[in-house]
Amino acid sequence: MRELNATVLENIEIAPMVYSLTFGLDEEIAIRPGQFCMIGVHGYSLKRPIAVCKTEGERVTVCFRVKGGGTRALAGNYRLKEKIPVLLPLGNGFSVPEEARRIAVVGGGVGIFPLISAIRAYTGTHEVYAYMGFRSKADICLEYEMRRAELILATDDGSAGFHGNAVQAFMKDVDGLQPDIVLSCGPLPMLRALKNSMRGRDIPVFVSLEERMGCGIGACLVCVCDREDGSRARVCRDGPVFDINEINF
Ligand SMILES: Cc1cc2nc3c(=O)[nH]c(=O)nc-3n(C[C@H](O)[C@H](O)[C@H](O)COP(=O)(O)OP(=O)(O)OC[C@H]3O[C@@H](n4cnc5c(N)ncnc54)[C@H](O)[C@@H]3O)c2cc1C
Ligand code: FES
Repeated sequence: MRELNATVLENIEIAPMVYSLTFGLDEEIAIRPGQFCMIGVHGYSLKRPIAVCKTEGERVTVCFRVKGGGTRALAGNYRLKEKIPVLLPLGNGFSVPEEARRIAVVGGGVGIFPLISAIRAYTGTHEVYAYMGFRSKADICLEYEMRRAELILATDDGSAGFHGNAVQAFMKDVDGLQPDIVLSCGPLPMLRALKNSMRGRDIPVFVSLEERMGCGIGACLVCVCDREDGSRARVCRDGPVFDINEINF
């Protein structure tokens, strides 16, 4: 993990209340798909955890939905060339066993952003099927990135693609598709639905959790969650990616 002073290169709205922020580093840093960064925000002592969506050499792009004061400030207050404090790279990220050929990614809400990093990493070497859920057609963003994979879009209101959520769209196809591994990220009810639906199937599922965080580096215990075996895990340090059967949602 490095503490960096990055330079803002772009900060644009890509869907209603969703921003794409690209910053430049002084050097290229190896970042695995699913890893995240902690980004400093003007006026707040705690940095905000945001998944890395895209890396291109020394350029790193994160995408975020405005949720509260921190993300609102991040969206509005950073201008081109401004310096921004960043801790990077954090967490374990996704890993796919060498023998896996067919990967399904299942994402909803802001969970699509870390999955785009997985799509970008694995489409050259694996068959990737992406089931991506949005509230409505107007919320769909980064479609050109998702289309690197075989893309199945879902919307809650049926205005584009499958009418329903990403898990429902995926479960309709799973038995025909027979993926070797599933990577997922999204709101907790979505991950719970995926866990219940996949029970009894012999397909490994790994989920990236977006737990409330303080430090992002394993020191404050704000992000702990319960494991099925009764022990506790720090999402920032032990995750954010876990076997879906390891965590008690
Ligand atoms: C590993 C990880 C990756 C994430 N990746 C993305 C992403 O790619 N895009 C995106 O839009 N959002 C992502 N999130 C969620 C994002 O961190 C929160 O939406 C954001 O921190 C909210 O901050 P706020 O000040 O706007 O909201 P507030 O609710 O005002 O935040 C108050 C405090 O709670 C923390 N907090 C609140 N909600 C969350 C949350 N869901 N997760 C973690 N901390 C939270 C904030 O960091 C802050 O310290 C990710 C979270 C984690 C843990
Ligand atoms: S956020 Fe501090 S230990 Fe995880």
